[in-house]
Parts: sequence; structure tokens; C-alpha cells
Amino acid sequence: MITRPNIAILVGSQGRGSNMINIIRASKNGGIPANVGLVISPKADTPAIFAAQAENIPTLTLPYKSENYANKLLTELQNANISLICLAGYMTLLPREILEAFPRAVLNIHPALLPKFGGKGMFGVHVHNAVLRAQETESGCTVHYVTEHYDEGAPITQISVPVLPNDTPETLGARVNLAEMEAYPKAICKVLSS
Ligand code: GRF
Repeated sequence: MITRPNIAILVGSQGRGSNMINIIRASKNGGIPANVGLVISPKADTPAIFAAQAENIPTLTLPYKSENYANKLLTELQNANISLICLAGYMTLLPREILEAFPRAVLNIHPALLPKFGGKGMFGVHVHNAVLRAQETESGCTVHYVTEHYDEGAPITQISVPVLPNDTPETLGARVNLAEMEAYPKAICKVLSS
């Protein structure tokens, strides 16, 4: 029997969990050749955690500031036999130990066309506000490899969307989020087949 690789999804405390749930569903409907083996969140009572539990995915709460955070995270990932880590709304830098243990196997999604509009503090509505202020005519999303710096790893998949004349950060954010639903599964397939 061919065993499918296990993915861990690391979410944040504030996200909607839309990318997480999209990856879980893609793993169940054949959209990606992998299982989601673990969802890790810094906080227990978040929409993402409830949604993962409703899909019968094992979840773990691990606050970013836990003692021995890196070791605990590494142990949990190894115990769940994880081979690919997907960040989806994860809000801090991943410890170096994790990056070393999972070379070219940690991905993140960012709601803009990197290298534009990335870096520390560039998340959620701040990104879309910056895109509108810069009068860009297009934005989009980027799935990229994770490094020890914010939003700097090599891009794997980018999808563009137009910026429309009457866009607000919310309307643009919703259009980018739709592109994210296509981009993350596509990037995962690309990485798993490489
Ligand atoms: C997404 O926009 C993603 O690009 C960014 O954080 C957001 C998470 O949204 N890294 P969700 O929780 O997946 O809905």
C-alpha cells in the first residue's frame, strides 16, 4: 500500500481558518495526495480549531511563548510523522530547529504578490491597505518556502487578481482569499511531486 504523506497545518489565533479548511477538504477529496495529520494553534478556542475538530483532524494547542516551544513543537511534529508543514495564518517566525528538521518542507501563504507588500507587520488588512494606498492595479497571493525571515523564501505558486477602482481592503481581501483557495493546494501538489 502506498502511504500518503502527513501534513501539519499551523494556524494563528486570529485567522478564519479558511486556508486550513481548504487544505483539509482537498486532502479528503483527492485535490492533494496527502493527509492532514495535525493542526496546531497557539490558542484553543479559535474558529480554526473548532473547524479542524469538526473534520476529525487531531489538534494541539501550543502557545508561541510556551517554555521549550521549539522542542515541544518538533516532538509533536515527529510523533505525528509529519513530512510537510503548512503555515496558514501563523503569526510568528518559526524556530530555526523546525526549519532545520524540515528542509524545503515548510510553506506559507501570504495575501500579496511577494516580494511586494511582505515583511514584519504585513498581515491581513494591513497588506490590502498598503496595496490600495500604492494604487496597484493587481494584487494576489503567494505560497512560498519559509525561511528564518518574514515572507522571504522562494515563491512556489502565485496567483494574481485585479485591484478594482472601488475596492476597499475588505473587497480586495475577499478576492485575494478566493485566489488563496486555488493557490495553496496547487503549491502543495507541486512540492509533493518535486
Ligand atoms: C491568509 O490571508 C494568509 O494569506 C495569511 O493569513 C491569512 C489566514 O487566513 N498568511 P485564514 O485563517 O486561512 O482564513
